[in-house]
Amino acid sequence: MSKPLISRIDQCKIIDLPIINNNRGNLSFIEADRHVPFPIKRVYYLYDVPGGAERGGHAHKLLHQLFIAMSGSFDILLDDGHAKKTIHLNRSYYGLYVCPMIWREINNFSSNAVCMVLASTYYDEEDYFRNYADFMNQVKKYE
Ligand code: TYD
Repeated sequence: MSKPLISRIDQCKIIDLPIINNNRGNLSFIEADRHVPFPIKRVYYLYDVPGGAERGGHAHKLLHQLFIAMSGSFDILLDDGHAKKTIHLNRSYYGLYVCPMIWREINNFSSNAVCMVLASTYYDEEDYFRNYADFMNQVKKYE
């Protein structure tokens, strides 16, 4: 596997997705290679999240992702080992791009929240830092 990258939370950003709006409702779309800054290899979604539950709690070595609140809302805490930022997602026409080597925690899910995630690779447990100290050790190697 390639060496993990080192990232800054400033590289994570909100991407405005197209909205087609009329009196029949809204339509948004995502086209591969046009709206997302990585090739889309996988889509997964979190739903039926019980009140008070937390997801995430890990970082990825190489994975790029785009988070979208398809319904409801939730908070995503981003942490690059130096700085932290919390982003509230509550619109299905915003995507939060999260680059590799960002620790994230997802919480404050509203009832009926659906968090859809576009991902640049297939699921691979080897790509995870699930322990914050291991993540920090990796970050410090590059200081
Ligand atoms: P995890 O990435 O830890 O979820 P979250 O960050 O939302 O809490 O994954 C939870 C479990 O689901 C873990 O056992 C791995 C499995 N999983 C897959 O099998 N495929 C996938 O695409 C994802 C994202 C997770």
